[in-house]
Amino acid sequence: MCGIVGYVGPGDTVGVLLSGLKRLEYRGYDSAGVAVLDGAGEVSVRKRSGKLARLTEMLEASPLEAHGSGIGHTRWATHGGPTDANAHPHLGDGGRLALIHNGIVENFAELRAEVEAAGVELLSETDTEVVAALLGIEFERTGELESAFRTVVRRLHGTFTLLAMHRDEPDTVVAARHNSPLVVGLGEGENFLGSDVAAFVGHTRRAVAVEEDNIAIITPEAVRITDFAGDPVEFEEYEVAWNADAAEKGGWSSFMAKEITEQPEAAANTIRGRIAGGEISIPELEALGDEVLRNADRIVIIACGTASYAGQIGAYAIEQWARVPVEVQLSHEFRYRDPVLTERTLVISVSQSGETMDTLMAVKYANERGVTTVSVCNTQSATIPRESDAAVYTHAGPEVAVASTKAFTAQITALYLIGLHLGRVRGTLSAEDQAAAVTAFDELPAAMTEAVETHEQLAQLAHWMADTRSVLFLGRHVGYPTALEGALKLKEIAYIHAEGFAAGELKHGPIALIDHGQPVFVLVPSPRKSPVMHSKVVSNIQEIRARGARVIAIVEKGDTSVLPYADDVIRLPLTDALFEPLVQVVPLQWFALELSQAKGLDVDQPRNLAKSVTVE
Ligand code: AGP
Repeated sequence: MCGIVGYVGPGDTVGVLLSGLKRLEYRGYDSAGVAVLDGAGEVSVRKRSGKLARLTEMLEASPLEAHGSGIGHTRWATHGGPTDANAHPHLGDGGRLALIHNGIVENFAELRAEVEAAGVELLSETDTEVVAALLGIEFERTGELESAFRTVVRRLHGTFTLLAMHRDEPDTVVAARHNSPLVVGLGEGENFLGSDVAAFVGHTRRAVAVEEDNIAIITPEAVRITDFAGDPVEFEEYEVAWNADAAEKGGWSSFMAKEITEQPEAAANTIRGRIAGGEISIPELEALGDEVLRNADRIVIIACGTASYAGQIGAYAIEQWARVPVEVQLSHEFRYRDPVLTERTLVISVSQSGETMDTLMAVKYANERGVTTVSVCNTQSATIPRESDAAVYTHAGPEVAVASTKAFTAQITALYLIGLHLGRVRGTLSAEDQAAAVTAFDELPAAMTEAVETHEQLAQLAHWMADTRSVLFLGRHVGYPTALEGALKLKEIAYIHAEGFAAGELKHGPIALIDHGQPVFVLVPSPRKSPVMHSKVVSNIQEIRARGARVIAIVEKGDTSVLPYADDVIRLPLTDALFEPLVQVVPLQWFALELSQAKGLDVDQPRNLAKSVTVE
């Protein structure tokens, strides 16, 4: 949600802001704007509802010449619709200051009444303009941006990343964060701010993650960080692991297509360094101490959306290898159900962005209850891993498309590694299971590459099915959450009704949905690795086929048992049974992508969705 970029330096300010906003587009937004100090030293704003291209057109028609400080924003509407007036930046102090915001100010109604009583006329419906107005009032009183800003942020309830600049302090941009991400980019004679490193990775890979409840003050020559009380805070810089090219489409028609094909490499990178001499070990977990892992009597995985399906798949493997009960809870349900947590509970959060507000709040809740928290995350130095006792990173590289693909398979990979590490430490992992898993990990990138090569077949299928209004997905065991993920992909980017079911549940209700021509994808387990489940799924196929379903069977190569009952067969290489989701999900991702394209939709930025869901 909302993308934020800030710049101070001698460069082409508008260019820096627009390129940052372009890279932040993936977060999801419905309006965009920039504020700079113009040639006359005044704050000038251009903002517009709709996509960035509309703002760029506006800037072409009415250019802004600026070399100095500036702030830019992509807005995902919360308070007030996606209109020009509600777009950020918002002005305060009679137009002398500009401010942008990611998050929600919960006490905005009372603050609005206060600023209106002070005679400020508000032009938008947003909570943000109220903050800009308050900052204006405070600046008039103190004549000093940093202290005025500090006073204002201390009065806000809710979540926020705020950036502000004032005409009278032309070389400064101030920023604050509370439960919302903020990073500083360190340049030579110029500095940057962003809601994530994508905002400035085209200019510098030196970054500082601003901690919770801190304020960053940047000028071209210096970066200072304080807490909300104004006391200086020490900080460390880190090098961003990926470069700007990693977040480019590189010739692909969409980021999603590129990211689907990157999955073998993402899995290989996630495995690298974690298997040595036939043994799986995760150094980041070692830091927790084996005692904690040995004593755990229950694991709760918390996540949302696709990450929660990765969690559900991971749960099967962790239970099998570590012999500890694992349950998966949606982050937004977790803390409101008064969960039973003890000092022997281990909470594992799963999040690509590491900024999902629901998951962050659930992790904080677990921390407050004294529970050990482990984060599986794809984004270096994001808030969730920093709030957790241990962080196990997936090394999938930046995922830009809203629909998660390579992060999903990398999350499953990381959870499996965690399960094996736990199994070894707890003494529950047999030598045979460990050896089988090591072999499966060795063979995984090649198997995933074969799965990626199903693209053409799925493109054909999607072409024939472009008018389809509903698709069902069936699976058993780890195939069940894979089916849920296949359905989610289709809903997200092709906007059609899709549902995933546990195949065994069919007869308990969903089979009533089957009618003539109803497309059903069936994830068929390997007949060699899971003969019992295989035969049950083949029976399920017969049941739906008898009722007119159009069956698209995803099978292991060489499995001919479904041929008499399937309309289409997609063949995948043999893997260990637990590893099947890592290959079976790939054709489902291609299918969603191709159906979305066949319908002429925006594959990477589907309507209403944001990549990073930073509000609850
Ligand atoms: C995936 O395709 C979705 N866009 C969404 O479900 C996502 O997985 C979810 O919002 C969680 O995001 P996170 O992994 O960044 O926490």
